[in-house]
Amino acid sequence: MTGASCVTVRVPAKVNVQLAVGAARPDGFHDLANVFLAVSLFDEVTATAADALTVSCEGPDADQVPLDRTNLAARAAEILAARAGIAPHVHLHIAKSIPVAGGMAGGSADGAAALLACDALWKLDTPRAELLDICAELGSDVPFSLVGGAALGTGRGEILTPVDAGTFHWVFAVAHGGLSTPAVFRAFDRLTADTVVPVPRASPELLAALASGDPDALAATLVNDLQPAALSLRPELADTLAAGTGAGALAALVSGSGPTTAFLVRDAESAAKVAAALEAVPTCRATRPTTSPAPGATVVAAF
Ligand code: C5P
Repeated sequence: MTGASCVTVRVPAKVNVQLAVGAARPDGFHDLANVFLAVSLFDEVTATAADALTVSCEGPDADQVPLDRTNLAARAAEILAARAGIAPHVHLHIAKSIPVAGGMAGGSADGAAALLACDALWKLDTPRAELLDICAELGSDVPFSLVGGAALGTGRGEILTPVDAGTFHWVFAVAHGGLSTPAVFRAFDRLTADTVVPVPRASPELLAALASGDPDALAATLVNDLQPAALSLRPELADTLAAGTGAGALAALVSGSGPTTAFLVRDAESAAKVAAALEAVPTCRATRPTTSPAPGATVVAAF
């Protein structure tokens, strides 16, 4: 890495195979039992030495990506530079495949990738624990984007414990437009206003199914407490979910806060069938067949 003037980091999207949501905390966040699974759908962030902090983006949804300091990639560079006492002078180019505002942690992924890329570009060699602290400062899902694989997230999702996961096949259906994560959590609060929301706990059955690599066992245990909230804001997603299960998916759920929907399938052949059926549904903009788990943010080029 020494002397590199350009560093590229590849970073995965995620799906939550269990998203148990507690009541709103005094700070507005919700305690979670959040079983993250990284999937083989990647963004790449390239950090290049520059005279100022700038961001560019390419990909089918590039026009929806903010290029100012609100982009988590830019924020990551700023926070890392401030800690190191240097100017955040870097150009960050995002090659985007992860759906934007889709519930797959695409923005969080770019934050983690930019952090790792800048750390290598600026030769800071920041300890892993400190990088994870910066990730948690950037957002609840960012630490997982750095770590990848499969992990249980507690607290607001930022406290990670690795868990075992066999290989699984998925199809993701990209929806038209995005959903705001805070809006989905507010909808969750409205829907649960008259109920006692249980303390979120990881499901032992789900963790066993995940470790076993048995798709039928995992299909029986998938759960997303944000799904009713996402469906209340985007009822048409029910059509996408029904089309996927109708085409042979073992299970269907909203990915995180949505509106991307996730379909667990038996194998690559079934993935192709389910993807073809989903492509015909008006509520589905595009499909992404993929597998899990995938590695976390990784430097793939430095020159
Ligand atoms: O942590 P992050 O910035 O990604 O969170 C975005 C928003 O999602 C928060 O401002 C909050 O409204 C909501 N959120 C939450 N509980 C969590 C994580 C996120 O309420 N555990």
